[in-house]
Amino acid sequence: MQLPKFVRMVEVGPRDGLQNEKSMVPTAVKVELVNRLSDAGLSVVEAASFVSPKWVPQMGDSADVLAGIARKPGVRYAALTPNLKGLEGALAAKADEVAVFGAASESFSQKNINCSIAESLDRFAPVMEQAKAVGVPVRGYVSCVLGCPYEGEIAPKAVADVAERLFAMGCYEISLGDTIGTGTPTKAQLMIAAVAERVPMEKIAVHFHDTYGQALANILAALQMGVAVVDSSVAGLGGCPYAKGASGNVASEDVLYMLNGLGIETGVDLDKLIAAGAFISDAIGRPTASKVARARGCA
Ligand code: HMG
Ligand code: MG
Repeated sequence: MQLPKFVRMVEVGPRDGLQNEKSMVPTAVKVELVNRLSDAGLSVVEAASFVSPKWVPQMGDSADVLAGIARKPGVRYAALTPNLKGLEGALAAKADEVAVFGAASESFSQKNINCSIAESLDRFAPVMEQAKAVGVPVRGYVSCVLGCPYEGEIAPKAVADVAERLFAMGCYEISLGDTIGTGTPTKAQLMIAAVAERVPMEKIAVHFHDTYGQALANILAALQMGVAVVDSSVAGLGGCPYAKGASGNVASEDVLYMLNGLGIETGVDLDKLIAAGAFISDAIGRPTASKVARARGCA
């Protein structure tokens, strides 16, 4: 199978990464991180999350982050919006695109957004409508696509059902999240194949957390099937507050190094990306989780 010639890297570190930091990261640090990421050539940076600050206090300054960044032309600054209240916040803060997030697991849906899968889809419908009315694209996430912290195995059909619904509602892209990072390549391919029967391959993105060290192998397996959009977090930041033990997303630096080696274009500069990762690792006082950054001398 031929690999894609170009992969769009979706940087989720400022959201998926920093939402899980124990200490509060100052707004100015978040702003500088987002600016460095856009300067590195990333065309989509998920910079904010308009969720309940009682649930995720780390994202409570999302409006200030979006107000503070230097918006680079051609870059889309994205935000999570679980409901209409979230959408209102995101639109007021001028997010370029928003994302709704559902799950393939009932238990995870309850823990993460306090409702069933069916209820979540009902909640997303007016978000989709209003976003469409003002011309803001909506991305759809499906969590727990390769396993759930509460239910264990998840059937590919359960993933495909939710992905199909989100796509039918108008999401321009469906990001398949291995929230707890337990997936392995063949399993990932079977799951993607099930989704691709209902959602066109070019509308599918993959979102691997690297808890079990499988993310790069899974990404390669996805690329071999024709997936050409990959989510990642600079310095491998993050996790999910409602998936205990889940470590960060695969590090953007490591994904980029692999894509460069495969001869796949991205438009992203590895040196600048490593520098952005070094900046945030330093700011939060933690060693980078990127092996490439470590090999290049980052602590
Ligand atoms: P709820 O408590 O059921 O909501 O939470 P509610 O509608 O009953 O409202 C309760 C209170 O929250 C009210 O305030 C609302 O105003 C407020 P009160 O009257 O008590 O003062 N509220 C909000 N405030 C600000 N922004 C909002 C908002 N909505 C309600 N948007 C809710 C439901 C969805 C809001 C809550 O469960 C929540 O915020 N969950 C977010 C959880 C989260 O952020 N998880 C991490 C992101 S998902 C993820 O990381 C996975 C992903 O990376 C993919 C993968 O890896 O799998 C995407
Ligand atoms: Mg995630």
